[in-house]
Formats: sequence, C-alpha cells, structure tokens
Amino acid sequence: MSLTTTRVGKGRARGQDTEQPTSANPQGRERWPWLPFVDLSLAAALVPGFFLGGLLATAARNGSPWLAAYPALAQAHGHAQLAGWGGAMILGVALQFLPRLRGSQLARPGWVRPLFGVFAGGLALRVAGQVLAALVLATADPAAGSARTAAAAETVGHGLSLVAVVGVAAFALGAVLEAAAGTGLVLLLGLSLRSGPPLTTKKAFAQVAPLLAIAFASFVTALIAWAAGAVATALAVATAGAASGAVGAATGGRLPVIPPAFDRLAVEIALFGFIVGISLAMSARVFSLFFRVRPANPQLVRWTGLLLGTGILAGTVAGAVHAATGVRPPVLAGAADLLWGAALWTGTAAVHVFSRRLAFPGDRGRYAWWRDPAGAGAVAAYGWATLAGLILVLRGLWEWGIPVGPASASVDAAIHATGAGFMTLLILAVAPTMLPGFGGGRLRGPAWVWASVVLGCLAATLRSAPAIAPMLGMSAAGWGAGAMALGGVTGLLAVGALTVALRRSWRGRP
Ligand code: HEM
Repeated sequence: MSLTTTRVGKGRARGQDTEQPTSANPQGRERWPWLPFVDLSLAAALVPGFFLGGLLATAARNGSPWLAAYPALAQAHGHAQLAGWGGAMILGVALQFLPRLRGSQLARPGWVRPLFGVFAGGLALRVAGQVLAALVLATADPAAGSARTAAAAETVGHGLSLVAVVGVAAFALGAVLEAAAGTGLVLLLGLSLRSGPPLTTKKAFAQVAPLLAIAFASFVTALIAWAAGAVATALAVATAGAASGAVGAATGGRLPVIPPAFDRLAVEIALFGFIVGISLAMSARVFSLFFRVRPANPQLVRWTGLLLGTGILAGTVAGAVHAATGVRPPVLAGAADLLWGAALWTGTAAVHVFSRRLAFPGDRGRYAWWRDPAGAGAVAAYGWATLAGLILVLRGLWEWGIPVGPASASVDAAIHATGAGFMTLLILAVAPTMLPGFGGGRLRGPAWVWASVVLGCLAATLRSAPAIAPMLGMSAAGWGAGAMALGGVTGLLAVGALTVALRRSWRGRP
C-alpha cells in the first residue's frame, strides 16, 4: 500500500490552484510525517504549556514557595507553547502539506523519523531540565531568584546540587538537540520546496513563499538563540567547578534562566516571525477552501510579508543591542512593534475572514460561519489577531514617545493576545478541519470542536484580560492571578477537547 495518496483538486474559486493531501490512514507508516508532530504538540500544550501556565498563575496568587522559581518556570512554559504547541504542530502540517502545495515531494523522507526523535527528546529535556533545576534550587534556597549573599549560596546541599546540575545539563543539551533537529527539519523542507514545477505555474505557493521564508528563518534563529542562552547558563555552572554548593554559586543566586533580554529576543522572533508568519501564510492558502471566503488578496499578502520581514529585522537588531548593552533602543524596538502590528492587520485583511461567505454550488448559500465551529474559531482567531495588532501598535507608539491611552501595553499583553488568542484559536479551528484529511478520515463529533473553540476563547480572554486592563487604566490586582489560573484550566480543557475530536476523526475513516 502506498504511503500517501495525494488528491489534487483545482481550486473552486477564481481558478486558484490548490492541493489537498490525504494519506491512506494514520496507522503505522502512514502516520509519517505529520502525526507524531501533532501528538508532540498536544502533549506540550497539555503539560508544560497550559498546565504549567495555570500553575504559575496559582503560585503567584497564593504566594507559594515556588515563586522563587517563577522566572525559570515562565521561560519553560513560554518555550513549550512556542516550540511545542505551535512549533511541532506547524512542522507536522508543513512537512505534509507544503511539498504538495509546491507540486514536489518531501525530500529524504527517511530523515524525518530520526530528526523528529531528536527534536522531541531535545524539547522534553530542555523544558523538564529547566523546571527540575529551578524547583530544586528554589526549594533548597528560597532566596534564589533575588540577590543572594555568598553564605546563602553555600546552603545548597551536595545532593541537591547534583540534581540541579543534571537539570541544568539536560536544559542545555536539550536546547542544543532541539536547535539542531529543528534546523535539520527546516533544511529538509527547504530541499523539498526547491524542486518542483516552475514557480510561475504554482501561483498559490509563490504567493506565500516570502512569508514561509520569513517564518522558517525566524524559527531557526529563535532556536539557535535559545540554545546559545541555555548553553551560556550551563557553562556558568561548569566554570564554577564541582565544589559543594557550586550550582548556587555559579548561577550567582539566579535560577537557570536565560538572560531575559536574550530570551525576549528569541520569544519575539519565534512568535512574530515564525508563528505569525506561518499562520498568515497557511490562512491565505486554506481559508478559501475551508471557510468559503474569497481567495486571499495577493497584494495584501505581499505587503504583509514586507511588513513582517522588516519588523523581524528591526526587532532582531533591537533585541541584539538590548542583550549586548542592557539598553533597549526605543526607536528600533518601537518600529518593530509597529511593523508587527501592521502586518497582523494587513494579514487579517488579506485573508477575507470577516467578509461575506461565498455560496458554493450545491449548498445554496446555507453555509454560515457561526454554525460551523471551525469557521467560528477562525473568525475568533482573527479577532484576536486584530486586537494583538492594536496592542503592538499602541506599544510601538509609546516607545516612540507618543503615549496613547492611560498606560503602555506590556510585552505580556502582546504575547498572550497573539499566542493564547490568535495562535491557539487558529490551531483549534484549522486542526480538526485539516488533519482528519491527512489521515484519510473525516471530522466526527463537531460538538467537541465547539467545546474546544468556546473553551479556547475563554482561556484567551481570562489569560489576556489582566495584561490588557492596565492599558485601560484599570488595575488587575485582586483578580488578575485568579483569572489567569482559570485561563490555564480552560486552556487545558480546550486542548483536551481538540484531542478527543481528532482521535474520533482518526477512527472515522470512510
Ligand atoms: C491561557 C493559558 C495561559 C496561562 C495561564 C499562561 C500563563 C503565563 C504566565 C503566568 C507567564 C509569566 C508572565 C510573567 O510574569 O512575566 C507566562 C509567560 C509566557 N507565556 Fe503564557 N500562559 C498561557 C498561555 C500561553 C500561550 C498559548 C502561549 C503561546 C505563545 C504562551 C506564551 C508565553 C510566553 C512566550 C511567555 C514568556 C516566557 C518568557 O519570559 O520566556 N502562554 N504565561
């Protein structure tokens, strides 16, 4: 039996060429290249993603002793959401879908399994190692995370130091493995997309190629930056030697935390370059098929690529200057925020998600997005993209010394409106629409998709509201941490409902 069978369908709207890949079934060899990535994405979202995010908020609310570990745990959570929930899902879909969109085949398919193994192992080691080392150091020495004295450093016992050393080593090794495998997978995609018919005959692919290039270059850059930061932390430990208490002393009283300016650079490139870039590119390609909207506007797609790419350049230079000098240059940082915000707006306009639906032959115009859970999820996702764009634009204006509103938007507001709002809702909408086709099945149980989309909206609102409130002159003290903790629970339930919807679809093969 062939590994995959591809159904190539001529676009039904305005002669657009589109391809819909399907594979025979999701068992055994047919699971590759996409299903293991989907499983990894769901696992990353459930455990270190939403669960740890909710736990962090609970710890903040209750003044838990874990609070000392907070900065490191926040980094582990953010990384799991970006590289796991978003990253692994995107890689799985990209390896399956993009070569077919290009009219070529996946190059060297035998490389996918080992690269996936190293990527998944690296991600697990990187996140678990950071959490383990942070908890050990924080509970052994509650002063960790704030300024410590040399005497306090020596209170870290020998046994605990060893566990912490193992954690820190796993953190660095995992980050390096993840960066190497992630780069390998992107190279594999690059090789696959280089071949195929001339681009002039593959307009659907050519239109989004610049966005894809920005996205995958950003992914590799972010992974390398995270790995360099993790190795720098581990080297600080190694340099201090094996003496008792070495871990605490070597980290200078800090937890295994990637220097914040460096981490922020990686987070922003990953979120705005990789996640936003690929989300807009995929939406431009599949929305006209899935949600009965007009094909994406090619001019606006081009503008989006230009704005996003320039924003990533400005953000990278601003972040590098910040990391090197400790000072964030406001002109460049503000420009990056403004360009990312504008790209989210032009991208939203390009995909026509808020416009009138087309009547397809046969359904006599009966389709309505508000009766389709995936369609409603896509509209909600782009509602969040619009809001995230506004937050970024207001933030950029403040950075340029043009204050609009009572207070500047926080990085946290921009991250969660984009990550918990736009990215998560887009996955909840598109995954149950697209993935069952990869497995040769069809969507079953739309009620589970409704549940995941409604819970996802709730999670995004509960998580982002406390970060947005100060922009409106409101204080989130007293309710913010509770709302965020509830956001973690609802996010967890949303991904659980998506998992059930997908599992039922695998079994629902025609
Ligand atoms: C809805 C449930 C979520 C909860 C309860 C939650 C909670 C948190 C908390 C408490 C922090 C620490 C903030 C601080 O004090 O600076 C944080 C940071 C972060 N979160 Fe979330 N989060 C959620 C969803 C997400 C999603 C879906 C993403 C996907 C992009 C995400 C990405 C991040 C990132 C990138 C950081 C910054 C990490 C760093 O500093 O390296 N979060 N989150």
